[in-house]
Amino acid sequence: MPLAIYPGSFDPLTKGHLDLINRGSRLFGRIIVAVLVNADKAPLFSVDERLEMVRHATGNIANVEVDSFSGLLVHYAARKGANVLLRGLRTISDYEIEREMDAINRRLRPEIETVCLMATEPYLHVSSRRVKEIAALGGDVSSFIPDFISERLRAKLQGKDLI
Ligand code: PNS
Repeated sequence: MPLAIYPGSFDPLTKGHLDLINRGSRLFGRIIVAVLVNADKAPLFSVDERLEMVRHATGNIANVEVDSFSGLLVHYAARKGANVLLRGLRTISDYEIEREMDAINRRLRPEIETVCLMATEPYLHVSSRRVKEIAALGGDVSSFIPDFISERLRAKLQGKDLI
């Protein structure tokens, strides 16, 4: 059973990401959730905070590991001995982004295969970006992210760090 890398910004982890990790963990022997150290984007949560949240949320799934990476994803995957990238597809715009990234990654490292799982109904329109926007404007994000992440997000938006 192959090793799959599930890369992303996870700023923060959503229930949609968790659904994908759970489903992927039944398809692959091992999954490494790889948190991007965003050098050019300015994430709300630090890489350590994002790692801690993903670890906490996935601690009950035996074949899931959590790590961070910077630089090219294909180089990271090669270091880990992985040829499979796991990604989620929600909408047509996701498809176009994934199509492009797959083409680039394949050109850089032809043995790489990207496996996309369709987002399932309750998570079709969940994104970290929207979650942050809704929370910043005082909306309820409890159906989009785990409760402990809602608390971290509330604290972060009030300028307080809980970890
Ligand atoms: O959660 P995101 O922001 O959709 O994840 C995007 C990610 C991390 C998969 C992508 O930005 C990425 O692979 N970044 C690493 C840099 C890289 O390898 N770029 C070339 C391939 S497009």
